[in-house]
Amino acid sequence: MDRDQLVDLTRRALKLARDKATDLAPRVHLVDAADYTSVERHDQDRAMLMASPQLVGYVSELPGPGSYCTKTVLGRSILLTRTAEGSVKAFENVCLHRQSRVVTGCGSAKRFTCPYHAWTYDNDGRLVALPGREGFPEAAIASAAKPGAAGRRKPQAAIASAAKPGAAGRRKPEAAIASAAKPGAAGGRNPQAATASAAKPGAGGTSRLRGTVGRDGQAAINSDGLTELPAAEYAGFLWVALDPGAHLDVAAHLGPLGDELDSWGIGRWSPLGEKELDCPINWKLAVDTFSENYHFATVHRQTFATIARSNCTVFDSYGPHHRLIFPLNTILELDNVPEERWDPLHNMVVIYALFPNIVLSVTIANGELFRIYPGDRPGRSVTVHQNSTPLDLSDESVAAGAQAVFDYAHATVRDEDYRLVEGLQANLESGARDQLMFGRNEPGLQHRHISWARALAAGDHAAPRL
Ligand code: FES
Ligand SMILES: [Fe+2]
Repeated sequence: MDRDQLVDLTRRALKLARDKATDLAPRVHLVDAADYTSVERHDQDRAMLMASPQLVGYVSELPGPGSYCTKTVLGRSILLTRTAEGSVKAFENVCLHRQSRVVTGCGSAKRFTCPYHAWTYDNDGRLVALPGREGFPEAAIASAAKPGAAGRRKPQAAIASAAKPGAAGRRKPEAAIASAAKPGAAGGRNPQAATASAAKPGAGGTSRLRGTVGRDGQAAINSDGLTELPAAEYAGFLWVALDPGAHLDVAAHLGPLGDELDSWGIGRWSPLGEKELDCPINWKLAVDTFSENYHFATVHRQTFATIARSNCTVFDSYGPHHRLIFPLNTILELDNVPEERWDPLHNMVVIYALFPNIVLSVTIANGELFRIYPGDRPGRSVTVHQNSTPLDLSDESVAAGAQAVFDYAHATVRDEDYRLVEGLQANLESGARDQLMFGRNEPGLQHRHISWARALAAGDHAAPRL
């Protein structure tokens, strides 16, 4: 965000703080309690998330070629990798054999060996090794070499790499796609596994069975590797589509907010890990807690309210997304400071709600990310809380301080916001009242619920144009 825009937002926030006012929606908005409790709406919500681009992390979580991370999104385990060429790929983290999770955690690796029976995949998702080869005569093993490497070998030599007569020999020639090129990959691990031969120079492991990954994030299901999902890095964040056949267009999804989010750089800051909250609240109730600061003076009396204004918000919408500015108490001191000396981010927190289930919070030292997912029933959700920092974490005391800030923010959300709204969920499910209301002073809340309702009404679950 450029300085002129920041100063303009600060002016608006300062005026609201000075006037003890807040941006207002035109009218009060009512929502049905059933939106939080019905199975039908829950199923619609899950479908809406499935159909929407999903922000799953910071680009800094894949810092260089060979890095990987795993994410759980709507209960699905996803592996993200940065390939040797530097591109980001995403796969269902589900083994071809018996569906074990292949990878956990994050780190740096070019090969991933399933912990169950050691089927091994490269960071392009290709199956490159398979112990007990004779048990799976139809399985196609891709070349463990980089594309082009197989082509440098003479086809005959590659065929000779079939470890045992009778192994490759039993396979149909066209099924023998590529060889395990390196000892230690397939051949070194298990000679029997190195049975397939390179079929074509230059094939580089591109199997006839393998789906193609086209332009614009289009991907198809692989039958000889992990199922690839469309993936992208955009605005400093990692994105996936949960439908392998979907078209992932994050630029269209974010519109003008893309450049603004990118300008903060929070996606390139150092990641501080993930914390998970599995709570007995509807996922929308979780999002609601980030959509207004009307509750600060009561719910966060001893915490956030000691530094931030309550019931004082600058609101702007961007299609189905919105941005809130929460002024800090120090903003009133700017009355005595010339604008050219303002340091806007010292006086406010910037909160984004990205349709449909993402919340970002930007401060001078933190780029918080909340990924909020419906759970297995209407009254259950999972929030994955992440944080990034521009501070130099190589200094131990700085790193400890950054973690302490993350811990504090997480504990506040867990113990103050989410704990309180557990009681709302129980009341909503009791059937005591049919509706709840969002005030004119809660424009962010209204905008969330109107965006979701319009998307569902449109039927295709796409983000609506508001
Ligand atoms: S489930 Fe992965 S190797 Fe068996
Ligand atoms: Fe809160």
